[in-house]
Amino acid sequence: MANLADKHIVLGVTGGIAAYKAAELTRALRRSGAQVRVVMTRAATAFVTPLTFQALSGNPVHLELLDPAEEQAMGHIDLARWADAILVAPATADFIARLRIGLADELLPALCLAATAPIVLAPAMNRAMWENRATQANVRALERRGVRILGPAEGEQACGESGPGRLLEPAAILAALAQLWEPGRLAGLSVLISAGPTREAIDPVRYIGNRSSGKMGYALAEAAKAAGAQVSLVSGPVALPPPAVDEVVRVESAADMYRAVLERAERCAIYIGAAAVADYTPTATAPRKVKKTAAQWTLTLTRTQDILSAVAALPNPPFTVGFAAETEQVEEYARQKRLAKGLDLVAANRVGAGQGFDADDNALFVCWSGGETSLPLAPKKILAAQLIALIAERYHGQNPA
Ligand code: C5P
Repeated sequence: MANLADKHIVLGVTGGIAAYKAAELTRALRRSGAQVRVVMTRAATAFVTPLTFQALSGNPVHLELLDPAEEQAMGHIDLARWADAILVAPATADFIARLRIGLADELLPALCLAATAPIVLAPAMNRAMWENRATQANVRALERRGVRILGPAEGEQACGESGPGRLLEPAAILAALAQLWEPGRLAGLSVLISAGPTREAIDPVRYIGNRSSGKMGYALAEAAKAAGAQVSLVSGPVALPPPAVDEVVRVESAADMYRAVLERAERCAIYIGAAAVADYTPTATAPRKVKKTAAQWTLTLTRTQDILSAVAALPNPPFTVGFAAETEQVEEYARQKRLAKGLDLVAANRVGAGQGFDADDNALFVCWSGGETSLPLAPKKILAAQLIALIAERYHGQNPA
């Protein structure tokens, strides 16, 4: 892997059953041309001996923070400066928690505190420990600080359970690590994304909403960030944790979203309208809760403004991407929508069983001027990365450097 050649990688190994896989990872890193120095926590030495890593890395293994001999050979500050990246694999729940609160109670966490190089964690633990709210909160907090989290993978676990918590395979870890030194396909560009549903107030307690979860838009925001873009996310009310992007603007109604998007649209290179914006809003919002005295209640609704069309009609519009959710004739409606709204690209999905709104998986039909393609059913995070790659390609095709 060319990107890893001569890179200085500190491989942190923490105390979990997957520690033995770090041996294979060490070999794979060396085969890719990287220089590796292994730092083990005390708990890790209960699973694999330091001698194994010494032989495989070709360097002494670092164990102690306060050992004068080790500090003299290469102290923790020197080691932090030496590193081009710190990869912790496996990263246990305990280590993740220690990193989150900034403990420096042994060498590896102290090193992470002292380092300015990117930190990458490949978690591995029991499924329930991974899903525990404490671990999830720790992971999100670290992500917001720029720590990259790889995996975990799903499958059978050493404890006999099955689910998320397995260490990613060494090849997948290596590929993700190598990306650290790839110039992002959207480097230097600002991307604005709107996501989630909107809520249109009927009275102070009731609203008209829809089933959008925001998952696709949030995954797109993360994928655009991973591609090197400066990302602003305008989000309707969703139950998702905020992604690690440059700006998150929370809005409620279609009118709020319109204002937040239009305020930013002229300053961005790419706008992706992934929100499920209400098409109609109550013509009047009652100032007080409407009492249920009448047998029938007729609401009068007014059309909302189309945010995407408004952005596409700006004098200097960004590259505009719209979504289409259809129950039938997906491809035909997508082509029509692109032309009708003046968009550069449309991603369309069929809504229905296990797909589209509120689902984790999705499939997309994508069309642009002069081309179209289908992205098959996949988790939204994977699909988001594919769609961002496609958008970057089309954007650069229209705006050659
Ligand atoms: O016309 P339709 O609602 O099917 O188009 C969907 C696309 O238009 C989505 O990208 C959605 O974000 C956008 N849209 C919008 N403003 C509206 C309605 C839809 O930006 N008021």
